[in-house]
Amino acid sequence: MDIVVSGIRPTGKLHLGNYFGALKSFVRMQETNNCFFFIADYHSLTTHPTPADLHGNVKNVLVEFLASGLDPEKSTIYIQSDLPEVAELYLLLNMNAYIGELERCTSFKEKIRQNPQNVNAGLLTYPTLMASDIIIHKAQKVPVGKDQEQHLEMTRTFANRFNRLYKVDYFPEPVAYTFDEELVKIPGLDGSLKMSKSDSENNAIFLADDPAVIRKKVMRAVTDTGPVDPGKPKSQPVENLFSLLKTLSTPDIYSHFEEEYSKGTIRYGDMKKQLAEDIIRFNEPFRNRINQLSADNDYLKKTVKLGAEKAHESALKTIREVREIIGFKEF
Ligand code: ADP
Ligand code: TRP
Repeated sequence: MDIVVSGIRPTGKLHLGNYFGALKSFVRMQETNNCFFFIADYHSLTTHPTPADLHGNVKNVLVEFLASGLDPEKSTIYIQSDLPEVAELYLLLNMNAYIGELERCTSFKEKIRQNPQNVNAGLLTYPTLMASDIIIHKAQKVPVGKDQEQHLEMTRTFANRFNRLYKVDYFPEPVAYTFDEELVKIPGLDGSLKMSKSDSENNAIFLADDPAVIRKKVMRAVTDTGPVDPGKPKSQPVENLFSLLKTLSTPDIYSHFEEEYSKGTIRYGDMKKQLAEDIIRFNEPFRNRINQLSADNDYLKKTVKLGAEKAHESALKTIREVREIIGFKEF
């Protein structure tokens, strides 16, 4: 069984994009891999150093992991900050990570552009922390979206550099992992290409949203004034609605609206009503499990403890070996 590691930052509730772009495939890959899925709370501090409710955010993501079908018996589900070995490996990797390569990282450049008043060292060394998350378990495969490719490339650089510097063949080279099929990218309701929690409030449908909220968000989704010439490409906001319909409705319904569009008789209001009901139907079991799990603190506590124990075992072995390779010795 291959070792798989992936993490999600607890910066808000999880939305349909997170589900279709990550969680759904996590759930399936736990059957055939040795998976480690964690909540990257240290990472969230790089951009949100004083979160209003760090614990609440971590709890939300944990509950949503479990509600989506991640199974604490099959996978190791844990919280990053429960693993001090990660912080130690991060420190050690930072000794061999060069300022120049960290400064060239696209996501660093993007984040300091967005937030020039908070250019902190944690942000600069985000890639070494992420590399530590991955190589602490000697992972071979990392399921992440395209936007994380560069971080993964840097992880390979750090792992290879460690092997070269200390003349060992210790860390494997982790590669991006797409399970079975191409990941589905979910667009936003505001016309943007990607559903994201950081954009406008009405861009994302959260797994925990109730029917009234879903109806409201979908009915407010951006469209255009109506079909232009048949054969001409759809405008982006309308393309987005079709793409959501394709993922969440039946093929019949999807082709019905495609046909209406090409005949020029489509009524976006009808299509949105349909889409809202299909999203509600899809979300219902999630919402029920989220409500149930959120109220079950005993179960959550047990799950976190079990995850921390399993993750520790794997991380401690690596950190002991790394210390020995570098030359730390007991007296
Ligand atoms: P957000 O953009 O809402 O902050 P994150 O960057 O925290 O989301 O994403 C967590 C995971 O979910 C990543 O693996 C990412 O690739 C995936 N993901 C996020 N948004 C989408 C989307 N709209 N479509 C598909 N996958 C997504
Ligand atoms: N950087 C990832 C993201 O923003 C989250 C993350 C942190 C991660 N550590 C990781 C993903 C290790 C995979 C493996 O989505």
